[in-house]
Amino acid sequence: MKGLFPIEKFGHIRTPFYYYDTELLRKTLDTIKEEAQKHEGFCVHYAIKANANPKVLRYIREAGFGADCVSGGEVEASLRAGFPASKIVYAGVGKSDWEINLGLDNDIFCFNVESIPELNVINELAHQKGKIARVAFRLNPNVGAHTHANITTGLAENKFGIDMRDMVKVMEETANMENIKVVGLHFHIGSQILDMGDFEALCNRINDLQLELERHHLTVEHINVGGGLGIDYQHPNRVPIPDFKSYFNTFAKKLKLRPGQTLHFELGRSVVAQCGTLITRTLYVKEGYVKKFAIVDAGFTDLIRPALYQAYHKIENLSSDEASESYDVVGPICESTDVFAKQIDLNKVHRDDLIAIRSAGAYGEIMASSYNCRTLPQGYTSDEFV
Ligand code: LLP
Repeated sequence: MKGLFPIEKFGHIRTPFYYYDTELLRKTLDTIKEEAQKHEGFCVHYAIKANANPKVLRYIREAGFGADCVSGGEVEASLRAGFPASKIVYAGVGKSDWEINLGLDNDIFCFNVESIPELNVINELAHQKGKIARVAFRLNPNVGAHTHANITTGLAENKFGIDMRDMVKVMEETANMENIKVVGLHFHIGSQILDMGDFEALCNRINDLQLELERHHLTVEHINVGGGLGIDYQHPNRVPIPDFKSYFNTFAKKLKLRPGQTLHFELGRSVVAQCGTLITRTLYVKEGYVKKFAIVDAGFTDLIRPALYQAYHKIENLSSDEASESYDVVGPICESTDVFAKQIDLNKVHRDDLIAIRSAGAYGEIMASSYNCRTLPQGYTSDEFV
């Protein structure tokens, strides 16, 4: 056992692989439940896109969360994992007919609708089935979360959602659609957000919008504020569980819910990121003139976040206690972006040493690809090693 990992039991497993600490996952889920339950009407959905490993989903479903999906495949994965359809929300700018039909056939809780053409198609398909589709409008609150540009979604100029200025018109027009019932408003401002001020700004926008809708005698049953709560990538050991208390308190204090209105959340990263680690084996240590490379058997096909977003993941050598030296940790893919970290200190690395790439439980395994004809990494939970 080195630190949190039973490395003596890793010997026979093909690397790279994902290791999920289910004790931490359970504690995280308990914390979310405990903090959310302090506030009336708070309902938490898990954003399947962060990690759809069935072993991980089982824990989340057992904790009683709903599911937030962005594709028919995710709706199917949630149903397979046992999430009740009555707790499934389904968002996405490009829902195809079979995906909409899947949601209708299963009577999911709500479609988060992102455009008027989509609304018309849902109305039409629901009509063919003699059903009433429950929808929430995804709105663009024009709140810029201070995070990486590629994961900011709440600004007016992007493909997601409907412009706030069109809202009253859209809701009035929808009132005449026979097979649509508007039940909610949906927002999502971005991901890896650590500044509660960004969520406060979202609350202010929603408060203004609700007042405006009420002036037109329009009301909704629920508000969905999306996901986005960030995690501490620098300190996975010191801060293994994000600050859910402040997060939920921010909404409880700043968002003016109407009597009976429920508030929905779609948390992804904050639920699963810290419990997951990518375990990789060192193939070679290459000594250059100015630096040393630890060449490992994981590449951006297994964890793309560093290559795609220049994301930081803490890296540790699980097999050595020798004095630290500086390394570039790189993968085997034939592209120069296949780098996990540059000039980081690791306990002296040797061939075959196991390397841990931490905080990889969210947007890790699920974003893996088979580029270079590589095998997809497997995921194992800690309870499989006892
Ligand atoms: N709801 C909606 C509508 C979303 O678009 C997302 C994430 C979530 C909820 C969950 O957000 P979270 O709680 O995980 O921040 N692949 C990127 C992150 C992309 C996030 C996309 N949307 C990464 O690796 O950082």
